[in-house]
Amino acid sequence: MGGTSAGGLGAAGGAGGSGAGEGGTPAGGGGGTATDAGTGGTGAAPQVTLRSAASISGRFFGAAINAGHLDESDYAAVAANEFSFATPENEMKWSVTEKTRGTFTFDSGDRIVAFAAQNNLLVKGHTLVWHNQLPSWVPAIQDATDLHDAMINHITQVVSHYRGQVVAWDVVNEGIADNGQSLRSTTFYQVLGAGYVDDAFRAARAADPYARLYYNDYGAEGMNAKSNAVYDLVQGMVSRGVPINGVGLQMHTGPAASSPSAADVAKNMQRLADLGLDVMITEMDVQICTSDLTTQTARFHDIVAACVAQPACKAVTVWGVPDKYSWLNGQTCTTPRPLLFDDNYLAKPAYMGVIDAFFGR
Ligand code: G3I
Repeated sequence: MGGTSAGGLGAAGGAGGSGAGEGGTPAGGGGGTATDAGTGGTGAAPQVTLRSAASISGRFFGAAINAGHLDESDYAAVAANEFSFATPENEMKWSVTEKTRGTFTFDSGDRIVAFAAQNNLLVKGHTLVWHNQLPSWVPAIQDATDLHDAMINHITQVVSHYRGQVVAWDVVNEGIADNGQSLRSTTFYQVLGAGYVDDAFRAARAADPYARLYYNDYGAEGMNAKSNAVYDLVQGMVSRGVPINGVGLQMHTGPAASSPSAADVAKNMQRLADLGLDVMITEMDVQICTSDLTTQTARFHDIVAACVAQPACKAVTVWGVPDKYSWLNGQTCTTPRPLLFDDNYLAKPAYMGVIDAFFGR
């Protein structure tokens, strides 16, 4: 699956050929804050960034990017300087792109794609078929033919719009039940049956022959009942010739004590790689409600190291840029501080944990 070649997401996808992983010149000026804090610099040009460290190991380092923050100069500078891969946090979801049936709105997604192009980041589209952030007209459809048509049209329009600009897609997101016993009981499964997953991937492939197509889920990073179910799902797809290229391991976790071990994650990655699939860490954050920055650093380091040790692992993406914009704020505790940059865009200790892991330290 593309081996370990630097700067690529894999064979068929070809990563759109923009070479963003090559440690290209970061754009924008960080004001010497975040990067210098992370590297002990003195305000001079940054010596190493997350993206340059990742590129040395032939991988991409990404962030969930939120279009609503791009006007904030520090946000834009850090996003441009530190990352080589972007996942729109919400902007390409069904509720945004097709709020009204048949009427497509790409403005905010286009904004992220333009930012990425200007700053030499590749983009992974997120997400085509998901039971959350779905406009109310979708679950209102109870007729299978009608819902099938709506799903295929949605995929076709969105993927076609971004063809050549988005190098990978999360085609189906979170489709497995949390207990791993079955597919999740979404409107798609209830009305269309299990075949909706294959159909979604086939539609995505028809709309873009080069994008890398991913199944993406949470709670299935290590070895457990849910990851067994993900494995069974994608193994079946591969055996049926369904066009799937990889599996995204979201990695919304806490410190090591409350999370799958890196060894467990490595084992899960290996069995997926043995199917000929790529893997990515797609949405990593490490909340430290009752923990500390040292344990957070170790966690980021160890998971990135697991990716570096696995040739099929193409990228690590963190789910946001500064702590203050994390989706986790106020969810599990007031200040989970789960990301790599603090509220002032200063690099946290975990930043160097990531860089050390890319350098094999
Ligand atoms: O856009 C509306 C706005 O019009 C309204 O005024 C406001 C009021 O609350 O809500 C806004 O929508 C919010 C949306 O983010 C955009 O900001 C939703 O309430 C809010 O629920 C939504 O949260 C997103 C969440 O997915 C939805 O499930 C998070 O930002 C986003 O980080 C999160 O991302 C997911 C991945 O897509 C899939 N994996 C899990 C991950 C974390 O939950």
